[in-house]
Amino acid sequence: MVVQQEQQRAQSPGGLQQTVRLYTSPSDMAKEGTEIAEETEQMIDQKEPDNPVSAVVDSKEMRAVLLTGFGGLNKLKVTKKPMPEPQRGEVKIRVKACGLNFLDLMVRQGNIDNPPKTPLVPGFECAGIVESVGENTEGFEIGDRVMAFVNYSAWAEVVCTPLDFVHKIPDDMTFPEAAAFSMNFVAAYMMLFEVANLREGMSVLVHSAGGAVGQAVAQLCSTVPNVTVFGTASPFKHEAIQHSVTHLFDRNLDYVPEVKKISPDGVDIVLDCLCGENTGKGLTLLKPMGTYILYGSSNMVTGETKSFFSFAKSWWQVEKVNPIKLYEENKVIAGFSLLNLLFKQGGCNQVKAAVQKLLSLYEQKKIKPVVDSLWALEEVKEAMQRIHDRGNIGKLILDVEKSPTPLMANDSTETSEAGEEEEEQEEDNDNKERMPFIQ
Ligand SMILES: NC(=O)c1ccc[n+]([C@@H]2O[C@H](COP(=O)([O-])OP(=O)(O)OC[C@H]3O[C@@H](n4cnc5c(N)ncnc54)[C@H](OP(=O)(O)O)[C@@H]3O)[C@@H](O)[C@H]2O)c1
Repeated sequence: MVVQQEQQRAQSPGGLQQTVRLYTSPSDMAKEGTEIAEETEQMIDQKEPDNPVSAVVDSKEMRAVLLTGFGGLNKLKVTKKPMPEPQRGEVKIRVKACGLNFLDLMVRQGNIDNPPKTPLVPGFECAGIVESVGENTEGFEIGDRVMAFVNYSAWAEVVCTPLDFVHKIPDDMTFPEAAAFSMNFVAAYMMLFEVANLREGMSVLVHSAGGAVGQAVAQLCSTVPNVTVFGTASPFKHEAIQHSVTHLFDRNLDYVPEVKKISPDGVDIVLDCLCGENTGKGLTLLKPMGTYILYGSSNMVTGETKSFFSFAKSWWQVEKVNPIKLYEENKVIAGFSLLNLLFKQGGCNQVKAAVQKLLSLYEQKKIKPVVDSLWALEEVKEAMQRIHDRGNIGKLILDVEKSPTPLMANDSTETSEAGEEEEEQEEDNDNKERMPFIQ
């Protein structure tokens, strides 16, 4: 069981002092969200309700996080949206917890290929209880506890998604754990076991080892005998995660000579979510018959808004790969995108199979999602800031039933009326967002 601690203050490396509940144990997408967006969206006054759920009395409406346009944190707000109803083959889920992924920061910035149109409700995964089902949804009943992938629109009180993307969860899996499970563990599992064929005695290099995917990779590696995991992470995380990684390096140092000191031949698998110069380094470190997988481009995020300079720099630094060299050196280079596999390439059966294997490992207590912290929907900006600040160990969860932590008097996240007034206040709000908020 994840152990919930008292609310406590966490000082993030970027200096934002936060009050969070910490859990320490182990372009066509988005149509649905955009279509139901209404100009008449009403901001929810966050100060009034102690329990935000009680604020929703009209069952024709629900609360959701809305991304009003690409950019900084001030582009996010909580709104009321029309209640979605399940279509044929869809399951309607009363959401309890949503996963916040690094990719959500990139979506917010518009820092992805073929970004969808805004406004949209972000979020790709959630967990909750089946509230109703559309026609042709055999296998699911009202009351089932489930986790689901959603093609955007997950950060809401209610979500409708095709049953192919919905998975029942074990009775003892909490909703935050379930929301921390799908994306990270499925991506980690498919990369390690289906793309790279991880086997006994192999070695793996993973970046952001303390992050949500990083911790899933480390746990899955521990299910195979004698696997050596090399990880990079910010130094302040090392104490907390050293048990999960065989050799841990400061992310600021050049890890290539460090890895070579320990393993002169290099490693069997490189998992690169940073991109840029790490591609060349990863290929250098690869043993013959080794596999390099690119699955993210975190390096493109260098601030709150998209930086064209970082984008260009990252792509400029990517090693030009010569296929003839790959053949001569016996190296495999691969890419992996779970969301594209699911939503664009019809891979839901492959994903289902992976989920079943992962749930079996969970039931055998071999893996367990690491939840970093829980946040109310209204706290999504602070939650994202925690990732920008590199403060998280494991996964951040939006807890739909959590009340927002009371804010300082001049706090920024008090929402304004929509419209021009809000635009005028945005600059002020930016400054206020960086004020510490304490209980
Ligand atoms: N392809 C797929 O299917 C797939 C699926 C899920 C995730 N991903 C990718 O995997 C990576 C990890 O995702 P995640 O959701 O688990 O996030 P995460 O690792 O929890 O992300 C936060 C951590 O990333 C590290 N980081 C690296 N560059 C950063 C930057 N520019 N700004 C802030 N933090 C940075 C920081 O850790 P340190 O400071 O300790 O390094 C930070 O604490 C992301 O690149 C994501 O896009 C890909």
